[in-house]
Amino acid sequence: MPLPPGRHRSAADSPCSLPLRACNDGAGRVLLALGGPMLTLDSTLAAHGRRPAAEVPDTPMTYVEAASAPLRKTGQIKIHGAAAFEAMRKAGRLAAECLDMLVGEIKPGISTDRIDRLVYEFGMDHRALPATLMYRGYRKATCTSVNHVVCHGIPSEKPLREGDILNVDVTLILDHWHGDSSRMYTVGEIPRRAERLIEATYEGMMRGIAAIKPGGTTGDIGYAIQSYVEAQHMSVVRDFCGHGVGRLFHDEPNIVHVGRPGEGIVLKPGMFFTVEPMINLGRPHVKVLSDGWTAVTRDRSLSAQFEHSVGVTSTGVEIFTLSPKGLDKPPYRI
Ligand code: MF3
Ligand code: CO
Ligand code: CO
Repeated sequence: MPLPPGRHRSAADSPCSLPLRACNDGAGRVLLALGGPMLTLDSTLAAHGRRPAAEVPDTPMTYVEAASAPLRKTGQIKIHGAAAFEAMRKAGRLAAECLDMLVGEIKPGISTDRIDRLVYEFGMDHRALPATLMYRGYRKATCTSVNHVVCHGIPSEKPLREGDILNVDVTLILDHWHGDSSRMYTVGEIPRRAERLIEATYEGMMRGIAAIKPGGTTGDIGYAIQSYVEAQHMSVVRDFCGHGVGRLFHDEPNIVHVGRPGEGIVLKPGMFFTVEPMINLGRPHVKVLSDGWTAVTRDRSLSAQFEHSVGVTSTGVEIFTLSPKGLDKPPYRI
């Protein structure tokens, strides 16, 4: 999610830097007004050639309403119990299975639209709605970020080419819980520097996750990532961060991927959030293209990202979005 410059306190007080075409109705419901008629879930499903409602049981009119109406952001970090851990295990596993499914599909010639379609169908087949559909006017089931795209790349008809690298970011809502995860994929043979970037990004994320324990802080996570990545002479993107996750897509706390040990928020058992560092081969600076979504590196250097949804346990951390098939990072051997 986007991070406001200079203010790293909470998600609730963050004026989102994305073009906010949503408005709050004052009762905690978010209304999606896209410069005209309200966009409904039914119309989005229809646009994807799907019959609404009947094929998406338990899903109210807009997922934004469904997720947030009863649980408006309060500035407090939610502490979840055993039932929530169980629900997040299921949602996280489904997101991971979806990313596993893509491994055999991504090759030269496939378009990112086709990848998006596969994810949408996977969601429908498993009674899960992709959370990005209708999210602040976003109309796709995934973000597909190719080469120098840092995040929020919009799927398109353009075919992938040998040597491309891309991140596919999937969030599936299963029984009202959000499983949010992303991985890097490679298209045919890729340059050695791209391999190094992908490896360092994965290692950075896992070092950040390994720093999570009760009594630790969000600064410990950022420090673990930043110190490792910068020692590899790569840079950590500052403008987007991880986020609390659960019944809300984006909740407290912000998880910044740089930091100093002991700073930030103290971690407690039952907190759920994502760790999703974006790492660049060149400088950390990004710009958002005129479509209002696509973030690219200013210097056009390659960028990579991985993302897991995790929960703080009494002894450390549980990763909800691990690949059941061990396909957590390339090279994927299937
Ligand atoms: N899944 C992304 C994340 O990790 C959010 C994408 S929001 C979208 O937080 F609108 F760009 F799709
Ligand atoms: Co996320
Ligand atoms: Co994500």
